[in-house]
Amino acid sequence: MPNVIELPQTNQLLGLYSIIRDKNTRRGDFVFYSDRIIRLLVEEGLNQLPVEATTIITPTNQSYQGVKFLGKICGVSIVRAGESMEQGLRDCCRSVRIGKILIQRDEETALPKLFYSKLPDDINDRYVFLLDPMLATGGSAMMAVEVLLSRGVKQERIFFLNLLASPEGIDAFYKKYPKIKIITGGIDEKLDEQRYIVPGLGDFGDRYYCI
Ligand code: URA
Repeated sequence: MPNVIELPQTNQLLGLYSIIRDKNTRRGDFVFYSDRIIRLLVEEGLNQLPVEATTIITPTNQSYQGVKFLGKICGVSIVRAGESMEQGLRDCCRSVRIGKILIQRDEETALPKLFYSKLPDDINDRYVFLLDPMLATGGSAMMAVEVLLSRGVKQERIFFLNLLASPEGIDAFYKKYPKIKIITGGIDEKLDEQRYIVPGLGDFGDRYYCI
């Protein structure tokens, strides 16, 4: 799947995952090491954006052939767990616009339901980093994508950043949106009966925001 980009599984990255996957890791460390991975995901997302050639003059009065980014970006987090990824994006892109989408399980139908969305007015003119740490079934992410498409965002301009993905989630997402780039820190073995990613890391939102 050409549009699925997995971060290089370096010892550095595997070390970070070994900390956040460990059930004995306390919240402070979970947040700190997750934030480091989020930063790597954002950097990889930025790496996917188009650039154009530019020439600048260095303090030694030499000309340097470099590149500059083309186009504007914004983040869209899926509340609540996706909000954990906002700061990582802000750390890399000063004063970046960030929208939010709230999707929850409808108690009657057990299907994901859109409750709220607040997005930049000019979102169809931006590259969108969709933020949600866990790609499990893909239900919420696909609903969020529908909201973005209905606002005129093209698939080619959406980058879905997540820390862990299941093969099932990737398959479902890629079949429906083959032009969206999925940038993930790791692809796990499968989903269990409760639709948790395994081996996984548990409930990301609970571990990031609760004790
Ligand atoms: N959401 C989580 O937080 N963890 C999973 O394993 C799956 C979905």
